Parts: sequence; C-alpha cells; structure tokens
Amino acid sequence: MQNISNYNKYLSYKSGRLRIENIFLEDIAMKYGTPTFCYSANQIKDNLHNLKNSFSKIKPFICYAMKANFNKEIVKLMAKNNLGIDVVSKGELKESLKCGIKNNKIVFSGVGKTDEEIKFALKKNIKQINVESEEELEEIENQAKSLKKKINISLRVNPNVDAQTHDKISTGRSEDKFGISQEKVEKLLKHYKESKYLNINGLSIHIGSQICKISPFKKAFKKIRNLILSLKKKNIFIDCLDIGGGIGIIYEVNKDKVFKISDYAHLVEENFSDLGIEIIIEPGRFLVGASGVLISKVIRVKKGKRKDFLIVDAGMNNLLRPSLYNSKHSIFPVKSSNKKTKYDVVGPICETSDIFRKSYALSKQEKNDLIIICSVGAYGSSMSSDYNLRGFANEVLIDGNKIF
Ligand SMILES: Cc1ncc(COP(=O)(O)O)c(C=O)c1O
Repeated sequence: MQNISNYNKYLSYKSGRLRIENIFLEDIAMKYGTPTFCYSANQIKDNLHNLKNSFSKIKPFICYAMKANFNKEIVKLMAKNNLGIDVVSKGELKESLKCGIKNNKIVFSGVGKTDEEIKFALKKNIKQINVESEEELEEIENQAKSLKKKINISLRVNPNVDAQTHDKISTGRSEDKFGISQEKVEKLLKHYKESKYLNINGLSIHIGSQICKISPFKKAFKKIRNLILSLKKKNIFIDCLDIGGGIGIIYEVNKDKVFKISDYAHLVEENFSDLGIEIIIEPGRFLVGASGVLISKVIRVKKGKRKDFLIVDAGMNNLLRPSLYNSKHSIFPVKSSNKKTKYDVVGPICETSDIFRKSYALSKQEKNDLIIICSVGAYGSSMSSDYNLRGFANEVLIDGNKIF
C-alpha cells in the first residue's frame, strides 16, 4: 500500500479503513451520499503556514485565488486567517465579502471584466484592480470619473515566459490572451501618471498554473525585476508587485515532483526583497489542492474484451481536470486490500473523455465499494457542472472531529 499521507498528512488508513482527519470516509459517504468532495481544514492551514514560514526577509500579502475553490467554508477559513483574496468576477467579489474578507484586501483580476463588474468593484473600494489591457484601463478611468472614485491599479505584464506546464493553463507567453507587453506598460504608466482617477502604483504577473519547475518563475521574476529597475531610472516608481499564483502540487502520489516551497520563497526574496515594495502572492492550488478528495461509489465493474472498466458515480461533470488537461489523479480504495487488479476508472457520462485513469492498479472492487480521487481541492468543485443533469456533488470541510 502506498503511503497516502505523503501528500496529505490528514489522510490515513486506520485498521484498513480510510480516514480524513478523525472522520472515516465511509461515514461521510453514508451521511452525505456520493460523490462528495471532502476537504481537510488542517491540511489547508498547514499549507498556509508552510508558505508564510518560508519567507524570512519579506512578509508577502497572500491573496487566496478564489477561483480554485469558492466553497464558503474554505473562503471563511481564509478570512479567519487574515488572507486577502484574488477574485475574477462580481460573483466572487460579492461572495468573498459575504464570507468576511475585508474590501481593502480584495484584488480584482481577469481579462474580461464587464462595465458592471468594474462599477461594482469601484463602489466597493477594493484594494486594487489588476488590469489586462489599454482598453480596460480607459474604461475603468471613465467609470471612476463618473463615480468620482480613485482606484489603485496594477498593470498585468505579459513577460513572454513559457511556464512549462499544460498548454491550456499557460498564461505568460506573448501569444496568450493575458497581460500587456512590457513596452506598452511603460507607455501606459507615463500616459496615466497625472490621472485624477487611476493610481497606477503596481505591476502584476501570472505566468500559468500547476508549475512544477522553478526555472519559469526564475525567468519571469528576473524580467519583472529588470522592468521595475529600468522604470525607476526613468523616475517611474512602482510600490506594489503582484507575482500571481501558479505553484504546482502533487497529483500522482509518490510520482510527481514539485520544487520545494522554500525554494520559491527564496527566489522571490532574492529578486524583490531589496526593492522595498509590497509583494502580493495569489496562490490558489497550493493552498487547497491537496486538501481535497472526491469520494465516489462503484456503480459496477464492467468486464470488457481486453480490460475491466470500474464505473464510478463521479463523472467529468464533478471533476473536469482529467478530461480537460489529461491530469492524472491518484485513486485509493476506502477499504484497503492487497488483492490488486487493473481497471480503467471511468465515470457514467456519455463522453469517451469521461475517464479518470486508464489501466490503473487498484485493490479489487465490487459494486457499492468506495474509492477516493485525490488532490481535488483546487479546480474540482469550482469547475464542476450539471452536465447530463446529474446534479452537483456535496462538499464537506473536516476539522478534527467536526464536519462543516
Ligand atoms: C491571475 C491569477 N492569479 C492566481 C491564480 C491562481 O493560480 P494557482 O491556482 O495556480 O495558484 C490564477 C489562476 O489561474 C490567475 O489567473
């Protein structure tokens, strides 16, 4: 049996039965049905603690990227831990306020903010808007003028760096839709220097997600540092840098490799600690990804000509990542056994891409047995849909003996 606690300290077998924190997963399935997303609060707190404690020279302002998981209990947990938040829609902005995040701790990102969303953000006096184009900047200035508001702006720079992650979650190459070229950034900073409504005091970058090698960060940070220094020489001063999210996590237990969080923190400090500016980080996946498992029940084992299909009641509508990004999540049985066999683990949806794993070694399963799919805390429930009208999975947050 693989050591499951390697990636989530709060998952363990006790007498052959799988627990998350102090609660048996069978009991959760019994009470809440399946499929159910189940998150460990203490794993989230540990991730946060590890991130914070990796820094020694600076104290970055951590803004949780809510798109990773907007579950109310999780956002409330972030608020209780004094985090800021990175939102990408009016819906997320409203929800984060409801969950106790202070308005002056909200960063509004996203490439396509609507007029209505911009107006709402201005009225709520949020910390800053991260702007993705010259056109967006013009619209924000017009709206701020009519509302007689002044707003802090960070310009999102496109550093033209390949994050070496999945193509669909790479955001920092010049051909991607995100950010503004370095040359244009300088032009905009000069143009709006005297604006009564826009205080362009920051830059931001976000080169992609699930980045497992440190080298793309190294390249991007160097570019942004050089940009800040060259602007300084021209008397254009930046006092806030938002370095985005993107820190990768383990999906295949005992197989995937990701840089150490202390290496990331060291790189940030090496590049920016001498600049005397505020540093914002927007981690989503790193904080919540490993905390979550999706409990699913075996509908039946279908004997194929060359292989057996393990048909489970979670589908791509609950967890889209395998079909969208070919991601490989580890799967474990809720009751351990040493009798192994290989299955294609599939969902019930009418799409060939509704597959979680192909030819996957698992203990022998039968109808109504339970399995968990790991590392689903980020971009799991938040990307789920009601496809095939299957309904949404339940979600529970476990903290010790307590279930929220
Ligand atoms: C602007 C921005 N910041 C932060 C994040 C969070 O990224 P991650 O979950 O990889 O940390 C994203 C996600 O795509 C993003 O677009």
